[in-house]
Amino acid sequence: MSGVGIRQDGFVAVIAEAELRSGEQRALTLSGVPLLLCRDHRGQLHAVTNVCPHALLPLTGGKLEGCALTCPKHGARFDLVSGRPLNEVAATGLRLHEVAVREGSICVRLGSMTPARQQRRSSATN
Ligand code: FES
Repeated sequence: MSGVGIRQDGFVAVIAEAELRSGEQRALTLSGVPLLLCRDHRGQLHAVTNVCPHALLPLTGGKLEGCALTCPKHGARFDLVSGRPLNEVAATGLRLHEVAVREGSICVRLGSMTPARQQRRSSATN
């Protein structure tokens, strides 16, 4: 995509909005950070660092169901809204980035939604 650049609000246009339809994903690199952009089946956009915390392999090609992404390597499943792991495969969650549509482009602001440390949901801890 031409015209990629940092906006005043810190977002960077990465691809045209029309290039990512519901249920699709796109791997790209922004400022050296591997990203996976996903548009879930409701049309909501998600941007995560494209590194699975289980074995530090790319998430590219993972199965997208609702707002959950399953890593294609060993099956770790993550909530793309919170980043949290949804099964026992990975102990920590995904690194999230803020994503928005500006003037027909999908834009990402790196690191702006990085959660401290998401844990798997567990029942009683005490
Ligand atoms: S690298 Fe993703 S589940 Fe193992």
